[in-house]
Amino acid sequence: MSQTTIVVGAGLMGTGIAHAFAISGHRVVLVDSDMAAAEKAQAQIAKIVGDGVRLGKLDEAKGRAALDSLSLASALDGRLAEAGLLIETATEKLEIKQAILSQADDLLPAHAVIGTNTSALSISELAAATRRAPQVIGMHFFNPVHKMKLVELIRGVDTSAATVEQSRAWASEIGKTSILVNEAPGFTTSRMSALAGNEAMYMLSEGVASAEDIDTSLRMAFNHPMGPLELGDLTGWDTRLKVLQYLHTTLGEKFRPCPLIIKMVKSGRHGRKVGRGVYEYAADGQKIAGSGLKVHA
Ligand SMILES: NC(=O)c1ccc[n+]([C@@H]2O[C@H](COP(=O)([O-])OP(=O)(O)OC[C@H]3O[C@@H](n4cnc5c(N)ncnc54)[C@H](O)[C@@H]3O)[C@@H](O)[C@H]2O)c1
Repeated sequence: MSQTTIVVGAGLMGTGIAHAFAISGHRVVLVDSDMAAAEKAQAQIAKIVGDGVRLGKLDEAKGRAALDSLSLASALDGRLAEAGLLIETATEKLEIKQAILSQADDLLPAHAVIGTNTSALSISELAAATRRAPQVIGMHFFNPVHKMKLVELIRGVDTSAATVEQSRAWASEIGKTSILVNEAPGFTTSRMSALAGNEAMYMLSEGVASAEDIDTSLRMAFNHPMGPLELGDLTGWDTRLKVLQYLHTTLGEKFRPCPLIIKMVKSGRHGRKVGRGVYEYAADGQKIAGSGLKVHA
């Protein structure tokens, strides 16, 4: 019988994570308190599967089976009793995540593992909201999940070796490479990427260069596939700001969020997901040439 995996949070990341497990043969329940978000995620998963089949990368029957194996929910329910794994990928707020983990702990079977896709928060602090800290681990995926090959596994102070091994096996089952990180704010990836994105925003706000030229410099001089401002647009500046605020509190001054990020978040320029961030995006998601934010002195 196929394994049941619960994904909580059907935003950018939950969509990709649910897709990855569904096409790997897991029965997936995708939970979001906002049912419209869950339905949007289901449509997006159908699109990714359809594109995969059309491009010959995914067998049609397998794609259909994946879509059939996906169900939606607006709250944690009795289906958790069948799950071996729950991945929490809701909004990056400690209280939201702790509440989800605590409720999941009551409903999951004793052997189940809880993975959290937090970008920076403490795995040990999240695990403390449960009675199964040895079975709580950071499982940090990257956007877009169906293209990005890495899962960063983060070991909290109580995470057991068995949970690490089981998580490595799940990562490899869904075709990802895993690395293991001992808990530290921002792990390896978010710490580097938040710093680079913040510095790029300081350069933009100081008028050092245009948004386009800052991004081109990282792409062409260092062979990064995307510039730091394009990446921030993809990640979402609202999420990026929460991560920076947390790193500023835990790791100090070098992570102080650039005031331009705060202004952008206040103005609703959250990034690609809302059609405008540092750049503006057409309805089909394409970046509009020359749309880079102009900062007035
Ligand atoms: N965006 C990225 O590139 C990225 C990369 C790695 C990790 N992350 C992390 O993944 C998590 C989700 O990020 P995202 O970009 O998908 O955010 P998002 O804003 O796109 O989606 C978050 C979803 O969580 C839902 N939610 C909020 N409270 C909930 C609750 N109590 N129960 C169920 N659902 C709830 C919201 O309705 C929303 O649909 C965050 O912890 C983020 O830091 C994001």
